[in-house]
Amino acid sequence: MVAAITDRADTRAPAALEAREITRSLPLGRERIDILHGISFRIERGEFVAIIGPSGSGKSTVLGIIAGLDSPTGGQVFVDGVDITAMDEAQLAEIRNQKIGMIFQAFNLIPTLTAQENVEVPLYVGKHDGSPAARAKEVLELVGLGHRLDHRPNQLSGGEQQRVAIARALATRPAIVIADEPTGNLDAKNSANVLELIRDLRERTGTTFIIATHDPTVAAAAERVIRIFDGRVVGDGTPAAVGITEALAAETVGESVSSRQSAVGREESVVGER
Ligand SMILES: Nc1ncnc2c1ncn2[C@@H]1O[C@H](COP(=O)(O)OP(=O)(O)OP(=O)(O)O)[C@@H](O)[C@H]1O
Ligand SMILES: [Mg+2]
Repeated sequence: MVAAITDRADTRAPAALEAREITRSLPLGRERIDILHGISFRIERGEFVAIIGPSGSGKSTVLGIIAGLDSPTGGQVFVDGVDITAMDEAQLAEIRNQKIGMIFQAFNLIPTLTAQENVEVPLYVGKHDGSPAARAKEVLELVGLGHRLDHRPNQLSGGEQQRVAIARALATRPAIVIADEPTGNLDAKNSANVLELIRDLRERTGTTFIIATHDPTVAAAAERVIRIFDGRVVGDGTPAAVGITEALAAETVGESVSSRQSAVGREESVVGER
């Protein structure tokens, strides 16, 4: 069943990632609430796509589903033309390890391991060429942390922890990097470094980046922006077409809804900062 999709002659190469009519509902007390109302998009190899929308609009939920960490209530997700929603947990774990690098909103580093060991973890989990230690050092140097290899997460600043999480996501040379607010805890200089890293990786390796962000600089740097509002795609195009300009950015990336939601977003970013 899975093979039928890849075997079928199609003049178009399979998308790096395709979401078809994803819905997600969750029980809340005796009711169910609908979080995603049918999200569809197709992302080509090597694209850099920013996903924007107010706090609570469903960005992290979408990312969790397309990364194979969470199941949709309805709809399908194709990675390289293969339907991952039809997979069991073991198959999903392999796809995640081989093809997807995930950077989480809360870094999810292992507190008892050093920076280097945290980055080595995914390399020991699946089959990967070369020495995990050498590769971990290499990617940590890439994110400017060559001098912090032996520090544990609690001996690193928030921004440094975020860079370890980025290094861990890149260690396996994934075809797709899915990142939830990767610059949310970084200052302007480190955010610029992350963008530079993304630019460099895309040029050298053709990696696909899908990034949920409240950061106008990140959204403006993407070649395409998908805007989500209340669990629906309400915009999809170039940053300019979706209304991201340097001047408008601060207003349009996530802070434009009700004051209640804006307040929640601000609170989270304050908590996240340290
Ligand atoms: N386990 C859950 N149970 C009930 N509701 C949930 C659960 N997880 C998420 N939600 C709700 O789903 C909606 C979407 O949440 P999600 O985390 O995807 O938003 P987001 O766009 O990533 O927001 P932010 O920008 O604040 O990170 C929110 O209204 C949230 O309250
Ligand atoms: Mg989120």
